[in-house]
Amino acid sequence: MAESILRVEHITKVFQSAKTSIRALEDVSFDIGKGETIGIVGESGCGKTTLGRCIVRAIEATSGNVYYTPSGGETVDFLKVDRRGMRGIRKDIQMIFQDPYSSLDPRMTVFDIISEPLKANYRRMPKAEVERQVIDAAAKTGLNTSYLKRYPHAFSGGQRQRIGIARALILNPNIIVCDEAVSALDVSIQAQVINLLKSLQREMELTYIFISHDLSVVEYISDRVGVMYLGKMMEYAETVELYSRPKHPYTEALLSAVPIADPDIAVKRLPLAGEIPNPANPPSGCFFHPRCGYGIDVCRKKTPVFTNCGNGHFSACHRSAELQLRGINYNNEGRV
Ligand SMILES: Nc1ncnc2c1ncn2[C@@H]1O[C@H](COP(=O)(O)OP(=O)(O)O)[C@@H](O)[C@H]1O
Ligand code: SF4
Ligand SMILES: [Mg+2]
Repeated sequence: MAESILRVEHITKVFQSAKTSIRALEDVSFDIGKGETIGIVGESGCGKTTLGRCIVRAIEATSGNVYYTPSGGETVDFLKVDRRGMRGIRKDIQMIFQDPYSSLDPRMTVFDIISEPLKANYRRMPKAEVERQVIDAAAKTGLNTSYLKRYPHAFSGGQRQRIGIARALILNPNIIVCDEAVSALDVSIQAQVINLLKSLQREMELTYIFISHDLSVVEYISDRVGVMYLGKMMEYAETVELYSRPKHPYTEALLSAVPIADPDIAVKRLPLAGEIPNPANPPSGCFFHPRCGYGIDVCRKKTPVFTNCGNGHFSACHRSAELQLRGINYNNEGRV
């Protein structure tokens, strides 16, 4: 594995109101190597966006640490850095979102949108330098730089996503959290934006946390993948390892919904049965037990520990060591 750039440890986030307490994240831990893409998957409401927002500190985690090691720099707990300290490093970790149209102010020109973070961070930067950097960021994302005076509504979904990427790139970050960044796009446009993200990654030595409910997209882009359920990390491993030899029944169930070429195998696959439980009132023991086909007595009573099963393959299941679960087949050329 590459040297660690981010170590997420024991992140918990509780949304507390007068009536309810929602544990949106419960003791989430994983390690990210420099230059890697980490995929985060799981059904809607499992805490993916909350995890991304806690990591970039758009919201404050209730507890936990995010150890960040910039290249050549010293490791800091990003979540504990004070306001003054954040001025120097907040720009290092940026986030891009699913629907850039709603996150882009319709009254701002594309130039204003891309330059805004620059102006906020470097108040005294000369106009000519701002302009140079905006044009550079726009060109990097494949935007036509003669359109910078236009408004976002004049652009297609794919181009608007490029505007969002340019805005994230302008501060020259080390890490970008992409939250459902291509989920709203047509498949062909999705591929273009993913390939753009990949080439930017090589060029600018970026590390990505790629959040998506789409397992195929995550499989394509990620070096390692984490599977979340009801605010917990259930499984975490290298992509091909996780997709071909899942150790958690929830991962197997998610994978069984991914389209595959072989119709004989397809029939044998079980869909994910049952509803996602209410996060304000989660099940006892293993949170997945009401929907799990492999449950035993202990599963209702004891919470399984997120454990390294070897080679950096983590799973939180009492039966990970014994179960032979079904994944996706690969050969040398990729997925079969
Ligand atoms: N600001 C908030 N206040 C209260 N509950 C929230 C808030 N944001 C998210 N949640 C809850 O936290 C859980 C995780 O949400 P989210 O992180 O958006 O999941 P995902 O991105 O995986 O769909 C959900 O139950 C959601 O309703
Ligand atoms: S701990 Fe038990 S209920 Fe939970 S996933 Fe494993 S086998 Fe299923
Ligand atoms: Mg989300």
